[in-house]
Amino acid sequence: MIVDHDLVIVGGGLAGLAAALKAAPDLDVVVISKVHPLRSHSVAAQGGINAALGNHPEGKDDSWEKHAFDTVKGSDYLSDQTAAELMCQRAIPVLYELEHLGVPFSRFPGGVIAQRPFGGAGFPRTCYAADRTGLVILHTLYEQALRRKVRFYEEWLVTNLVVREGRCYGLLAYDLHSGEIISIRAKAVIFATGGYGRVYQKSTNALINLGSGIGMAFRAGVPLKDMEFVQFHPTSLLGKNILITEGARGEGGYLINNQGKRFMADYAPSTMELAPRDIVARAIQTEINEGRGFEGEYVYLDLRHLGKEKIIKRLPGIREICLYFGGLDPIEEPIPIQPAQHYSMGGIDVDENCASPIEGFYAAGECSCVSVHGANRLGGNSMLETVVFGQIAGRFASEYIKDIKGSQSDEKALGYIQDEAARLQSKVNQWLKNKSKRNVYHLFHRLRHLMMDKVGIFREKKKLAEALEEIREIRHEYRHLSLWSDCLHYCQEFITMMEFESMLDIAEVITMGALAREETRGSHYRTDFPTRDDQHWLKHTIARYNDGRPQLTYREVKITRYEPQERKY
Ligand code: FUM
Repeated sequence: MIVDHDLVIVGGGLAGLAAALKAAPDLDVVVISKVHPLRSHSVAAQGGINAALGNHPEGKDDSWEKHAFDTVKGSDYLSDQTAAELMCQRAIPVLYELEHLGVPFSRFPGGVIAQRPFGGAGFPRTCYAADRTGLVILHTLYEQALRRKVRFYEEWLVTNLVVREGRCYGLLAYDLHSGEIISIRAKAVIFATGGYGRVYQKSTNALINLGSGIGMAFRAGVPLKDMEFVQFHPTSLLGKNILITEGARGEGGYLINNQGKRFMADYAPSTMELAPRDIVARAIQTEINEGRGFEGEYVYLDLRHLGKEKIIKRLPGIREICLYFGGLDPIEEPIPIQPAQHYSMGGIDVDENCASPIEGFYAAGECSCVSVHGANRLGGNSMLETVVFGQIAGRFASEYIKDIKGSQSDEKALGYIQDEAARLQSKVNQWLKNKSKRNVYHLFHRLRHLMMDKVGIFREKKKLAEALEEIREIRHEYRHLSLWSDCLHYCQEFITMMEFESMLDIAEVITMGALAREETRGSHYRTDFPTRDDQHWLKHTIARYNDGRPQLTYREVKITRYEPQERKY
């Protein structure tokens, strides 16, 4: 089956919906999502979205320039400053637009949008809806999309991006309901496919976050940028790794080791628990590694002193998570927490218009790297990025389509798509023919443990080199796997087989970038190179797919007004 659309947006989370809402209304636009859009991972975002509104009594002197400075400093000076400035400037009108669309933000007395402190921010500028901010923004944008009759293909997994001669012609997708592969011809495509958190064994991400959009784009010839920068959130619930929002520390929560000490005093004496995430996550892991944690695995996040009323009002979701998944009430007991993978600073290489080097192909949100977050993202800047750059992607992809209208040869596009479909079919035929004793899940778990053990918070040459070798061994085994299922309706094994290739590509690019980068910057901590080295490494890593192997090159960072300095908190 073949379908035709002007603009195809892949991903029904915040970036995808923001793009759909800003796409030109006279275009034929569709959003493809592998889950119902309201199950996109954006729904799990908790603590808030940053904008220098100056509503907090301690935030009167805030400005977008100060927000941009905090973002750049938080990024350990790797973000492109033009991009950080654009995002922080756009943050203020975007917040009011969300408010006018109906997002039910928490309010201060008097009615203005409430703001709370977050890590690495000079002023309390994180706007929130209790601790369910992602949920309410996602629902609001989805309602608006329905109101504007945006079309959705739900439970379709995009499997291939069709790129030939430097231009994007469309996609292939697996319709989970029918088990069919659908060919989609498009004038432009936007990927808003989210992150790859589940490449790591411990992650706050949803089970769907396998990074297949990033991997697919890479294999189709789109470069990836800064993939070695992987964010570990300091506070995930022990055992389940469910996110315990930074908002809990923003509201005044303490981190406590087995000596009863607020140990952040030893790592970031002026900001304590509200240092940026890379610093807090490393501090927690250091306490655990050096024997000051509990049972060798966790420290406590203590909220008890906030009192019942504040916990119930500001952190109701956290209390529920603790009650249902941790078996404890944070009003009465401290929360056992440990760091877990949370976010990907790197991603599909795009410019400030969300355009990739491939004509007609755009990306926005966590799957992309503009780059605004550099080596470490500040909490509250992720939802902001999804909406700001989702909107930009929708606008620029629409303009592109209008410019090329009529110039794309339908016949040529069809030929390329059929060729891609034939390749996919032969890959699936091979899986059906192979006779392996193991299925994909064995390799899936091996890869995730490997990434956690050897490419985690602390990195060093020997382990990174071992990881790279093992990733390549796993890839070799993957090529010989067989598909055991014989029915393709809602076939989870088929989905995992398809997506696992992207997990391998992502793991390989992260590890190669981490091995090559002989310095410490933001989330990338090399125990064998523990300092930042601006002379050699103030540059972006660009990975290209070259004959089945990633190849790394480097690109200058854009610096405007914030000269790199030592980060102190
Ligand atoms: O901690 C949090 O609520 C997460 C926020 C974010 O990743 O921006």
